[in-house]
Amino acid sequence: MLKIEKLHKSYPIGDSSLHVLKGIDLSVEEGEMVAIMGSSGSGKSTLLNIIGMLDEADEGDYVLDGVKIENLTEKKAAVYRNKFLGFIFQSFNLINYKNALENVALPLYYQGMNRKQRQEEGMFHLGKVGLADWAKHLPNELSGGQKQRVAIARALAAKPKLLLADEPTGALDTTTSYEIMEFIQQLNDEGKTILMVTHEEDIANMCKRIVRLKDGVIMEDTFVNQVRASQYV
Ligand SMILES: Nc1ncnc2c1ncn2[C@@H]1O[C@H](COP(=O)(O)OP(=O)(O)O)[C@@H](O)[C@H]1O
Ligand SMILES: [Mg+2]
Repeated sequence: MLKIEKLHKSYPIGDSSLHVLKGIDLSVEEGEMVAIMGSSGSGKSTLLNIIGMLDEADEGDYVLDGVKIENLTEKKAAVYRNKFLGFIFQSFNLINYKNALENVALPLYYQGMNRKQRQEEGMFHLGKVGLADWAKHLPNELSGGQKQRVAIARALAAKPKLLLADEPTGALDTTTSYEIMEFIQQLNDEGKTILMVTHEEDIANMCKRIVRLKDGVIMEDTFVNQVRASQYV
């Protein structure tokens, strides 16, 4: 699914620079569910953003689904993002003035789908996250867990091969976090490849593999026995 080799990333700060990723090697196969862990500032989001083509590495190789990701134009990167990737964020990133259905249907607009199809597909995905009755509600009328479910439905609507999540439970209480993890585990059960950043051990243990970042390198990469979220909800 993806292979990264000798990846480096620095950020300029004044006259000097901050070397955040110092030679990352990472391969993820189709169907995996991987947690990226590390303390705050360890480069988790930087790595996820490079994988998600929201940012570019300074050095190293990145191949996603057989495509070498390098020197892509903004337009080409957008095409691959839309084709391969779904995103979920800690802060949901819904559009406040659009209702739940419109939020979910938006990526389909960019895929050139007509209005009727977008509505149907959008409703299907809202139904999958249990929110069919909330289609006409604006984000500020939804709870945090409901907002994240809308965001998951939106990410899935474009049928991505890889779902990227940056602290998807970071803004949610424990019970709601486990409900969201139950959804994400079900998606993975159905075959979706998932890569998520978290700094919570209990959430990481609900994945199948944990990659630990420290001082810009991967210090540990292990397969774990997946804890099922359903036993807690
Ligand atoms: N756009 C940026 N410009 C400068 N420094 C950045 C930028 N983005 C992140 N950083 C710095 O890089 C380091 C890693 O950040 P980040 O990847 O967000 O870490 P994490 O997600 O693990 O908390 C931090 O020290 C952060 O301050
Ligand atoms: Mg982060």
